[in-house]
Amino acid sequence: MNDSLTTTYLETHQRSAALHEEAVQEFAADGATHVARVMEPFRPYITHAQGSRKWDVDGNEYIDYIMGHGALILGHGHPAVVRAIREQASEGLHFGESHEMEVHWAQLISRMMPVAERVEFCASGQEANMMAIRLARVFTGRRKVLRFAENYHGWADELIYQGAPGCLSEEVTVVPFGARAAAEAALRTGEYALVLSEGGGGHMAGQVPMDLDFQRLLPEMARQNGTLYCVDEVVTGFRDAPGGWQALAGVRPDLSTIGKCAGGGLPVGAIVGREDVLSALDPRTTPDKRIIHAGTWNANPLSAAAGVAACSLYLDGEPQRKAREMARRFRDGGNEVLIRKRVSARLYSRSIVHLYMGPIEREPDSLDFMAPSTDPGTIMDRQFLPVSERFGLHLLQRGIAAFHGAMYVFSAAHTQRDVDITLAAFEASVDAMLEEGSIPSEILLS
Ligand SMILES: Cc1ncc(COP(=O)(O)O)c(C=O)c1O
Repeated sequence: MNDSLTTTYLETHQRSAALHEEAVQEFAADGATHVARVMEPFRPYITHAQGSRKWDVDGNEYIDYIMGHGALILGHGHPAVVRAIREQASEGLHFGESHEMEVHWAQLISRMMPVAERVEFCASGQEANMMAIRLARVFTGRRKVLRFAENYHGWADELIYQGAPGCLSEEVTVVPFGARAAAEAALRTGEYALVLSEGGGGHMAGQVPMDLDFQRLLPEMARQNGTLYCVDEVVTGFRDAPGGWQALAGVRPDLSTIGKCAGGGLPVGAIVGREDVLSALDPRTTPDKRIIHAGTWNANPLSAAAGVAACSLYLDGEPQRKAREMARRFRDGGNEVLIRKRVSARLYSRSIVHLYMGPIEREPDSLDFMAPSTDPGTIMDRQFLPVSERFGLHLLQRGIAAFHGAMYVFSAAHTQRDVDITLAAFEASVDAMLEEGSIPSEILLS
C-alpha cells in the first residue's frame, strides 16, 4: 500500500509527533492515557475546543466526533456551562461539605428520570455500576450478578469482559443479550442479586442494538426471581432523551446508573433508584445492612455547577433532538456514499453513529435501533478494525476526529455545515481508500 497518508500526517502533525515521543517515555499504553486514544502513528495533541470544533498543537482544525467520550451533548464550551464553572471556581473548588448545588443537581436528575427516588453521586460511571452491585447484594442478601456479553460497564473486576487479565469475577455470569432461556435459567436459581444491562444497546448507545422485546421482559423476569434490575445509562442518560433511554423504551428498572452528560463535561457518576434499595446508605440502617460510601469527588462543587447548568438545558429535549437530527443527516448521507461506491458498510444508530463493515442484511430505512446485521458476533467482529483505523486516519487528515472512523458522537453544537463538510471528507476518504486498495475485497461489492 502506498503510505503517503502517514507521511503527510507526520508532516502536518510535527508538534504532536514531538509530544508523542515524550509521552511514550511516561505512559505505558504507547503514550496514550485512554485505550481509545491509542492510534498508529499517534492521535493529535489538542490545545482547545469550542462548539463542534477542536484544534491541535500544529494548528490543525477538526470537527469533533469524540465529544468528550460522549459527555458533551451540548458541544464544547457551552456558555452556560462555562459560566457556571467559572463562577463556582471563584467561590471555591471543594468545600468538603454539603452545598446548595448538589441538591439542585439531584432535583433535576430525579425530575428527568422518575426511577430516581434517591440519588447517590460518585466520581464516574463505573463507580456507579460498582455501587449498583453493592446495593443489590445488600438488599437481596445474594452475591451473583447477571450481565450481557455485548455490554460495557467499566474496567473494574466485575464490570469488564470475563477472563480479562488480573480480574476476579467468579460471581458474575455473562450471557449473550437476548438469550432468554439462559437468562431465565440463571435467575431461577434464586442466587442473583442484580441484572445489569446497558441502555440503548451494547456499547456506546447501540453499536449492538438490543432486542427491545427481551429488554422489556427483563424487569419482570428479575422481579419474579427476587433479583434487582439496573439499566446502565452512563452514555444514554440525558443523551437519548431527558428521561434517558428507559423513557424511550418504556422500561422501569429498580436502579439506574448515569455519568457522562449528567456532569456537563466534568467528572460524575450517580446511582439512582428505589428509595428502599438506596436506604442501605442511610446512617440509621443497622450496621449489618449499611453501606459506607465515601469518595473525595462525590458531588464536588465544580461538577455540580456544570451538571446543574447542563441538566437544566436537557429538560426540554431540544439538545437531544438537534444532536440526533444532525446524526441522522450524516448517517443518511454517508450511507448514500457507501451504497454508491458499492462498499459493504453502513452507518447506523442515533446520536452516536456507528460504522458497520460486513455483509448487509437490511438496508438503511429504520436504523435508529437496528444494525445492518442481525448477528452481534458479526457486528462485534474485529477483523475489519485495521480498515476502520485506516479510515479514521484518512478522516483525521481531512479534519474529522472520530473514534477510529468507527464511531461518531454528535452534539447539539454540530450544524448542517459540519455535516456537509464531514460528508465530503467521508466520501474523499472512501475514494482514497479505494484508490490505495486498503478496502478488502470482502467488503467490496462487485
Ligand atoms: C455504558 C457505559 N457504562 C459505564 C461506563 C464507564 O463510565 P466511566 O468511564 O465514567 O467510568 C461507560 C464508559 O464509556 C459506558 O459506556
